[in-house]
Amino acid sequence: MSNAAQNSIVKDMSLAPEGHLKISWVDAHMPVLNSIREQFEKDQPFKGLKVTISLHLEAKTAYLAKVVQAGGAEVTITGSNPLSTQDDVCAALVEDGITVFAKYNPDPQEYKELLIKALETKPDLIIDDGGDLVTILHAERPDLLTTVRGGAEETTTGILRLKALEKEGQLKFPMVAVNDAFCKYLFDNRYGTGQSVFDGINRTTNLVVAGKNVVVVGYGWCGKGVAMRAKGLGANVIVTEIDPIKAVEAFMDGFTVLPMIEAAKVGDLFVTVTGNRDVIRGEHYDVMKNGAILSNAGHFDVEVNKPELNERSTSVRTVRRNIEEFQLKDGRKIYLLAEGRLVNLAAGDGHPAEIMDMTFALQALALRYVNEQYEQIGNQVLNVPYETDQEVARLKLGSLGIQIDSLSDEQRTYLDSWADHE
Ligand SMILES: NC(=O)c1ccc[n+]([C@@H]2O[C@H](COP(=O)([O-])OP(=O)(O)OC[C@H]3O[C@@H](n4cnc5c(N)ncnc54)[C@H](O)[C@@H]3O)[C@@H](O)[C@H]2O)c1
Repeated sequence: MSNAAQNSIVKDMSLAPEGHLKISWVDAHMPVLNSIREQFEKDQPFKGLKVTISLHLEAKTAYLAKVVQAGGAEVTITGSNPLSTQDDVCAALVEDGITVFAKYNPDPQEYKELLIKALETKPDLIIDDGGDLVTILHAERPDLLTTVRGGAEETTTGILRLKALEKEGQLKFPMVAVNDAFCKYLFDNRYGTGQSVFDGINRTTNLVVAGKNVVVVGYGWCGKGVAMRAKGLGANVIVTEIDPIKAVEAFMDGFTVLPMIEAAKVGDLFVTVTGNRDVIRGEHYDVMKNGAILSNAGHFDVEVNKPELNERSTSVRTVRRNIEEFQLKDGRKIYLLAEGRLVNLAAGDGHPAEIMDMTFALQALALRYVNEQYEQIGNQVLNVPYETDQEVARLKLGSLGIQIDSLSDEQRTYLDSWADHE
């Protein structure tokens, strides 16, 4: 029996065949990551190193883990949300020699223990999503920190947490902010979240979007994508914001902008995507229409305030997979999707493979970068180098068969000079 099979904690190894099928489907749609895999097989950038990954554990992530493994690493993987782990994918990874500590829907205590087990392997490098690995290493288990050279962070929320640690002078190793690369947020946060949120909502509710008032809470990169796709599906889109610039942008993009207390009165379907807490809360539930549907696509399940929804309810029951019905004391019903966790991952398969192709290419290259540079760069939050961003975009264009122009020498000189501008 392999080390991976001996050490892993997964739900059911007999699910592996289905997991292998899912991984090979996405691998066929991730050409950029495929070319990085070929490079890694030759260069072996992680030879002899241990890498621990915490990401939403579905097929695309599994393929990233295999690419890092192809680069010579001993890989351990765990989830980054209790409801986004797919048990069949976990089983397949164990068969492929990757140690997995993850199951669908563990209780909060068990979820935490699985993250800690993944860190007890004493990794040299980490990939984090939302900052849970980094937080455990800094706050609870600094004894596991000593081997870590650095890592890469996937999402907006994790980067906020990292920057807070950095500001207090407490960050103990360099972390690359993959989310802040152009080839991440322009495509993953916008087009990926936009499409996959409606994939999750539509397959869960089996209801029409056209004609509904869809309230998008937060008009950041993810919110723009969600609003764009809601409009494409025929919704009347309402945006709520706290940033005046984003609010003007939403207005100019053709959306109605309202404060949440007004949007709450008219919304049929709500999607929170702010990275903030309590953006839908008690006072909003009090004015909502009977039958309003709430969902969240932000990283943590704190955007829709569940305790205040519970307080107002006489009963809660599951009326369909991933839909809870809250029966309010005044007779109205409010529905919450996927327990208020990321609806596109907890009630869907996450972003399309072609989108994660770019995000995970950045992850793989960022990990190689931090491993090569960790001694020079110090304990800080770093951007993905611009050349790496461009390399990923070029590989993507190449895979799509799209060619673009390049600057002539005269054009370059013109753009670089301040005098020659008649
Ligand atoms: N579901 C997914 O697959 C997925 C993918 C990428 C990122 N995320 C997560 O989604 C969240 C948002 O990410 P982003 O990249 O769009 O961030 P962002 O910083 O670009 O946008 C967040 C927006 O929310 C607004 N906001 C904050 N508090 C608000 C409030 N009370 N009411 C209304 N608006 C408010 C901010 O002004 C900002 O414009 C983060 O938690 C991120 O980690 C999820």
